[in-house]
Amino acid sequence: MNIQFTRHRRLRNSNNLRAMVRETHLRPEDFIYPIFVVEGDNKKNEVPSMPGVYHLSLDLLNQEIEEVISLGVKSVILFGVPDEKDDVGTQAYHDNGIVQRATRQVKETFPELVVVADTCLCQYTDHGHCGIVENGQVLNDPTLDLLARTAISQAKAGADIIAPSNMMDGFVAAIRHGLDEAGFEHIPVMSYAVKYASAFYGPFRDAAHSTPQFGDRKTYQMDPANRDEALREAQSDLEEGADFLIVKPALSYLDIIRDVKNQFNVPIVAYNVSGEYSMIKAAAQNGWVDEKALVMEMLVGMKRAGVDLIITYFAKDAARWIREDQ
Ligand code: PBG
Repeated sequence: MNIQFTRHRRLRNSNNLRAMVRETHLRPEDFIYPIFVVEGDNKKNEVPSMPGVYHLSLDLLNQEIEEVISLGVKSVILFGVPDEKDDVGTQAYHDNGIVQRATRQVKETFPELVVVADTCLCQYTDHGHCGIVENGQVLNDPTLDLLARTAISQAKAGADIIAPSNMMDGFVAAIRHGLDEAGFEHIPVMSYAVKYASAFYGPFRDAAHSTPQFGDRKTYQMDPANRDEALREAQSDLEEGADFLIVKPALSYLDIIRDVKNQFNVPIVAYNVSGEYSMIKAAAQNGWVDEKALVMEMLVGMKRAGVDLIITYFAKDAARWIREDQ
């Protein structure tokens, strides 16, 4: 036989050779670990639809953070699950709200840890929507003021990054303006710029008790069928002063991640959401998939698609597996 062809397999001959030509790498510092904090003492309650994810009371929080840090993860995002809810989400912007107290406590003990605050109202409103509701409508502009107040109280508590997730138009501008006026011009905004109205948030809403009590979020979160619109959303958030752009969810939106990465020159973040976590956990518990291999393939796929950072409930596991494999 005397034909000429290219041998791609030459570069796959051994483990070390494959490592040398590998194009994408996962590092523990790529991950942001979500933590749900609750009122009370001595609480570590597993979220039923998210095995391995807990509601933690503040007395047990530092222990959790120590583990996160020991694994090389540099950042957490805090979600509050308050006891008290009302129609305007007062606990979201209360200086003694659960997230504000958690943030103060964590920053006091672990000043180096990068604490991201999720800035939204849905866990704090009795109707479960992300803004002020009037006659069944979620009002845009009146909600902006509450978001800015929430962001300021989070920054005052010591949050290093503000991550607004409620998808009102102008939310980055309102928050940026509020932070600047309050002397927090140095605090970056990580905007959930491209957030789809997704069924993949189901387990989170169990975890955060934030299911809308009527209707859905389709008048403010994006239609999963839309691609061009993602670029418009990202562009306006950047013009309003966003420092990072989040695409959420991640797995069904890798094309969007690549579009945003190609178009905009800021750090891009994927939110590997609750439903994406629960599906893998459930399959793994049944012995149907190899959890470690599947998770690492999924996470490296997100990086290959173009993200710089990944918010993921697998952060601790992935960091451990990276270390194991070194
Ligand atoms: C708050 C918020 C949600 C998530 C993060 N921030 C839920 C939602 O929009 O309903 C979802 C995260 C996940 O599913 O892991 N607005």
